[in-house]
Amino acid sequence: MNIVVLNGSPKGELSVTLQYARFAAKKFPQHSFRFFSIAQNIKRLERDAAVFQEVMDAVKEADGVLWAFPLYFQLVSSQYKRFIELIFVRQQQPAFAGKYTASLSTSVHFFDHTAHNYIHAICDDLQMKYVGAYSAGMYDLMRKTERKRWLDFAESFFDSVSRQIPVARVYPPLSTGTSIFQPGASKAALDADGKKILVITDEQNQAGNISAMIKSFTGNFRKEVEVICLTDIDIKGGCLGCCKCGLDNVCEYAGKDGFIDFYNEKVKKADIVVFAGAIHDRYLSAQWKTFFDRSFFNTHMPTLIGKQIAFLISGPLGQIPNLRQILAAYAEFQETNLAGIVTDETGSSGEIDLLLTELAGKLVRPIADGFMPPMTFLGIGGRKIFRDEVYGMLRFVFQSDHRYYKGRGLYDFPHKNYKARRLNLMMTMLTKLPPFRKKFLKMLKDEMVKPIRHVADHK
Ligand SMILES: Cc1cc2nc3c(=O)[nH]c(=O)nc-3n(C[C@H](O)[C@H](O)[C@H](O)COP(=O)(O)O)c2cc1C
Repeated sequence: MNIVVLNGSPKGELSVTLQYARFAAKKFPQHSFRFFSIAQNIKRLERDAAVFQEVMDAVKEADGVLWAFPLYFQLVSSQYKRFIELIFVRQQQPAFAGKYTASLSTSVHFFDHTAHNYIHAICDDLQMKYVGAYSAGMYDLMRKTERKRWLDFAESFFDSVSRQIPVARVYPPLSTGTSIFQPGASKAALDADGKKILVITDEQNQAGNISAMIKSFTGNFRKEVEVICLTDIDIKGGCLGCCKCGLDNVCEYAGKDGFIDFYNEKVKKADIVVFAGAIHDRYLSAQWKTFFDRSFFNTHMPTLIGKQIAFLISGPLGQIPNLRQILAAYAEFQETNLAGIVTDETGSSGEIDLLLTELAGKLVRPIADGFMPPMTFLGIGGRKIFRDEVYGMLRFVFQSDHRYYKGRGLYDFPHKNYKARRLNLMMTMLTKLPPFRKKFLKMLKDEMVKPIRHVADHK
């Protein structure tokens, strides 16, 4: 069986993820493997048609394709994202159609599911036969049980290919065809009250819906709002995954391009940040992905704390709940208030105009000042994962995160609440006694609400 491995790590041969694929190749010598360093060679793949064609030809000849990638900002790296865009732009879908496929990632499990959902949906769009996702922890391969688990998955993948199992499409095709949005007249009625508003976009085409939405949105303010296009910033490339930033947040690109200054001087210093972009396949553009990946020089620390943020999206966001979750989680991780997301997918131009006016008002209303909603599972779960990783194995790599987490009291375990510890011990013992247990279960509901009811009644 011929298996093609599409390596999505910008580190190429030094990829952790690649070692999992290499391990499987060694353990299943009856199959032949071809490895392609996709993310690391993205510039060549873009520039040199023959290099790109070689990958397409290998995919065409393959019995199975393995998407092997590291998690980057809840998805794949910007370089891998660009490769996926190229497949569609260059109309290479036929090379992938009908091929059996699976995805493999390594990560710390922060939004690994959204990355696999994305790749699964892309495989469905390519009419591939997607048989499963394997999300490994970075160093799982060092453990015997995890090696077996991975080999079992790989074997089941090969078995699916050899038996040509039936596979159902999970993600329905996107129905596109948004109509042209015509912004209404500028209202110029809102005062930003000295707050700095920054709109970031990736749209070069000033005739597109995103530019029109930005025009309508910014037209609500009396004073001009700063709009920056990512294509006007000197960005030399995507994140290289080198993790040099871990020690003290100095990026490998420092002094080599304009991204870090842009992020520090514009994004961090704004009070309100509006992200505007069109959907490309099942995410925003690779250009936007580069923005998120490159902001990793701030490692696992939120940099937009207390800001009001919003998204203006052109395209079928309503059909991609995975992307909506990614945006919501980004807002929570950054400790911002996501004031809203306005899209052009439904409603007339007039209705979209009204939504944009409402959003503009919401962002600058005094009540929005410093308001931050409580986090959901997305933010709380994510923060705990990073906290545990930085406290544990990754501390010496991410030293600045460690200083920050320690300084902000984010290492809140094991807790020192001795009252709770004593109570837990005593109650655990007492509930072993049948008469007490009976009484306890009878009182439980009353006792659970008692302290909170006291606050509600008396504060
Ligand atoms: C820019 C960047 C973004 C990352 N984002 C995530 C993430 O969203 N979730 C996660 O669990 N790990 C994330 N990681 C960690 C990598 O996925 C992890 O280290 C992976 O094992 C690296 O694999 P590789 O050596 O094959 O590139 C990120 C790492 C980098 C450098």
